[in-house]
Amino acid sequence: MFTRFRRKRLNPVLRDLLQETHLRVDDFIYPLFIRSGEGIKKEVDSMPGVFQMSIDEVLKECEVLKSLGIYSIILFGIPEVKDSVGSDAMCDHGIIASSIRAIKEAHPDMFVVTDLCFCEYTDHGHCGVLDPILETVDNDITLTNLQKQAVIHAKSGADMIAPSGMMDGMITAIREGLDSEGYSHIPIMSYSTKFSSAYYGPFRDVAESSPSFGDRRSYQMNPANRKEAILESMADEAEGADILMVKPALAYLDIVRDIKENSSLPLAVYNVSGEYSMLKMAAKAGVIDYEKVMIETMIGFKRAGADIIISYHAKEVAKLLNK
Ligand code: PBG
Ligand code: ZN
Repeated sequence: MFTRFRRKRLNPVLRDLLQETHLRVDDFIYPLFIRSGEGIKKEVDSMPGVFQMSIDEVLKECEVLKSLGIYSIILFGIPEVKDSVGSDAMCDHGIIASSIRAIKEAHPDMFVVTDLCFCEYTDHGHCGVLDPILETVDNDITLTNLQKQAVIHAKSGADMIAPSGMMDGMITAIREGLDSEGYSHIPIMSYSTKFSSAYYGPFRDVAESSPSFGDRRSYQMNPANRKEAILESMADEAEGADILMVKPALAYLDIVRDIKENSSLPLAVYNVSGEYSMLKMAAKAGVIDYEKVMIETMIGFKRAGADIIISYHAKEVAKLLNK
């Protein structure tokens, strides 16, 4: 026997020398859920460790994040009033516009990404304006509103815009909207391949964004489709997206690899709410070693081809990496 793999696994220093994939604190973007009010920090039952926070609490949270070395956040808003088009998202004094201004004023060194969608802001919970006849989101009217929302975010100080609604042509529309208002320097991270997934369940509790009727299968992707998954991301690249994304992450690592091989753009994964809750609940039940499973999962994302990981675990991972 000439080949013995175990020769390189005996010494722990050598094991480290030979490690192919590494996690870094700067790989992560941490999601925050913001609502109006003061002194609000309300834990979500289905996502232990995740909170809805008022802006003052978010400013404190940014301090904690920075102390851990996390400088990137992605914002989700829970508006006071919802309506049929999601007006709060297109208004200078909406929850996200106000949050961005407050965060960038108190923490100019934070990199503020904004989720660009309407499901948290509409009374029907769908990701745009409804077409009354088709009973689904009207793609092209929604594009106009996405342009408005993107410009509001940029004007309020957002550093990067992340459209998540899976509208056709959304990158072209948002790019044109931003550029025409003087924001050609603001990058777009597209949720380019986003599946219609049951793994978003807990998120819809925390973001209060469940559709009041039907589901999102007429705009988000069928989990069974691989070729279409690649085409979706390639289309967004062609439209000028700066960063691509696969979402969810865990059940879609083949797609992560596929897109990595089909594009040279940076690639993000969204380690979604259901994935987070599964580990949390398994830990609570005492059936897994939570920290080890969490790190193994994160390494899996990077090994599959992710450059960026959006994750509710980011703080816990940072604590372990900083040890
Ligand atoms: C909004 C949006 C969703 C998520 C991120 N942005 C929910 C959805 O599409 O229903 C899911 C995130 C998660 O589950 O953690 N379009
Ligand atoms: Zn949405």
